[in-house]
Amino acid sequence: MSKKDEKKPLGKNGGDMGERGVYDKRNKLNDLTGKEWVFFTNSVWITGYSPTAKENIGLKYRKIHPSPKPPALIKEIIEFFTKSDGKILDPFCGVGGTPLGAALAGGERSAVGIELEQKYIDAYKKVCQAEGIKEMVMIHDDAMNMMSHPEVAETVFDLVIADPPYSDMMGKERTGQRKKLYNDSTPKPYTESEADLGNMPIEQFFETLRSIMQLCFNRLKPNGYMVVFCKDFQPQPGNPNLLHADIINELCKIEGLEYRGMRIWHDQAMSLFPFGYPYSFIMNQLHQYILIFRKEV
Ligand SMILES: C[S@@+](CC[C@H](N)C(=O)[O-])C[C@H]1O[C@@H](n2cnc3c(N)ncnc32)[C@H](O)[C@@H]1O
Repeated sequence: MSKKDEKKPLGKNGGDMGERGVYDKRNKLNDLTGKEWVFFTNSVWITGYSPTAKENIGLKYRKIHPSPKPPALIKEIIEFFTKSDGKILDPFCGVGGTPLGAALAGGERSAVGIELEQKYIDAYKKVCQAEGIKEMVMIHDDAMNMMSHPEVAETVFDLVIADPPYSDMMGKERTGQRKKLYNDSTPKPYTESEADLGNMPIEQFFETLRSIMQLCFNRLKPNGYMVVFCKDFQPQPGNPNLLHADIINELCKIEGLEYRGMRIWHDQAMSLFPFGYPYSFIMNQLHQYILIFRKEV
């Protein structure tokens, strides 16, 4: 037996989990072994869920939404930031990436989602029925009103996952190559509602996002985490449009909330387009930022 293969003694806090590695009994955050924990801390995360992959559960119903998140991706986030009885809140729940991820993560985990648009909630419910998945609480409302719902107001959450729409990005007119490629000059907004963050000018968007995240923060347990998805806009002359940095600065105005780092998610199922060809460089942004914050009180 080589030195490398020799088993190290477990120590008083170690629990042998076989192939999974060693679980440290002092782990208050999740049920992962050291090996699994370290794997998750990689700052770059590449996934390749094809539209037909089993990880892309219920995509047939969820694809009515312009940007649903893969439940398998959310499952891993939930497994890192909660124990098996974790409670998760998602204020912009869409077609249910978060509650589906919570159900896939299993145990006693539960999720509460809030979504402005009823048809997205209906699509989520169809997935649960078709796939035999445990249905979680979905509230049809503006997330600004979350405290009027006892499912939110009377719960202390272990984790908040937010995947907001980004300002009036969805409604911006497409020009040039993008217009040709999409065969349509105006992308569809998520909803027609004025309360939809995707329909707000940038200043109002930042203010509203911070107010909603403050409400989530108030319902989060001490040392609980907040995970926020975002993408940068294309740079414009005089404006680098680093939305992820602006979001970090905006959310750090919430007293007691600290930015702890990010994971860059590259979804290999995304296609490359010849934007700018043959005139200038325009990036194909295939990555998203997964920004991680913690309630430090
Ligand atoms: C990027 S999508 C979230 C997708 C989601 N992660 C999923 O897997 O389906 C953002 C969602 O926020 C919703 N939304 C926008 N403004 C809202 C608000 N004020 N309150 C609640 N939901 C809102 C939109 O309708 C949209 O479905």
